[in-house]
Amino acid sequence: MHEKHVVTALIAEDEPLLAAALKAELASAWPALQVVATVADGASAVAQALALQPDVLFFDIQMPGLTGLEAAADLLDAQVLTPVRLGEMVQLHFRRRRVQPPDRTPGRYAAGTEFARVNKLEDPHFLHDLTEALARASLEPGARVLSLGVGGGRELEVLEQVYPGHGLQVLGLDLEPSALKLARDRFPAHRFPDYRFRVQDVTLPGLSELGRFDAVLALSLLQSPSVVQAPAGTLILGFPNARYRGGELSYGARTLNFTRPDLSLLVKDVTQARRALQGHGFTVYVTGKYEVLVTAVRRGWEKANA
Ligand SMILES: C[S@@+](CC[C@H](N)C(=O)[O-])C[C@H]1O[C@@H](n2cnc3c(N)ncnc32)[C@H](O)[C@@H]1O
Repeated sequence: MHEKHVVTALIAEDEPLLAAALKAELASAWPALQVVATVADGASAVAQALALQPDVLFFDIQMPGLTGLEAAADLLDAQVLTPVRLGEMVQLHFRRRRVQPPDRTPGRYAAGTEFARVNKLEDPHFLHDLTEALARASLEPGARVLSLGVGGGRELEVLEQVYPGHGLQVLGLDLEPSALKLARDRFPAHRFPDYRFRVQDVTLPGLSELGRFDAVLALSLLQSPSVVQAPAGTLILGFPNARYRGGELSYGARTLNFTRPDLSLLVKDVTQARRALQGHGFTVYVTGKYEVLVTAVRRGWEKANA
């Protein structure tokens, strides 16, 4: 039996009259097209596109919140669309009918995995940059250090090298218990009585209840607003070319038309973090090669804590 092929569409247009006119135009010019939803702002356009998976999207360029192009970029990051610009509209075709499910593989960062074998400290550039960033924190003996997404704790080895015998009070948080076991083995309690490691989701509220830290590290963890707002003398944020989007991790900007990830998302995140931290009274340094380190030193922190 020959199935009647219905093409589904989503319209995003903040002017109700224009949305109605476009719908009418489409109904006469393209009878097989079924408009499954009409929304009036960019964020709803992204949400509905992902929820309804229509065949064709008609996005106005100027809309409240996200513009049509930004909404398209959001969807492109999810690797689902190919854009065609038609005058004032952007038409986007789904290349895939289904968005790939996010990688929620349990134990992705667990001990013994491919990831756990990667030792970033073997890269002399990273080692140099992290050493420099930690030195910028000018930590006093007994200073408090928080490491978010500490994993197996390798970065804390550099901390010890930069501040030998400083008796630092270190708290490492991570979701992955087996990685934390590696961290505890690396920093055994009898030699490092002031090192603590705890299972905790750093994206959940509660970070501020841990008190003030002289330095906060978040390397290859990616940043949430709560991380940037953590009360700290120095923040060291390591940005790989990846980011969270709607709570999910997406690596690189692997849009369909790029054979290799490009750095646009990384540059955007770094620029935003730098600006926000400068606005909060930090002096910000941006260094790095494969992982960009944003080191933010709060001006006057020592005096405030004296
Ligand atoms: C890419 S690894 C980075 C580990 C280490 N900081 C480094 O630079 O090598 C990311 C780590 O963050 C942890 N992680 C991811 N999301 C987290 C969350 N919401 N809360 C706490 N830890 C998280 C993972 O379990 C993993 O150990």
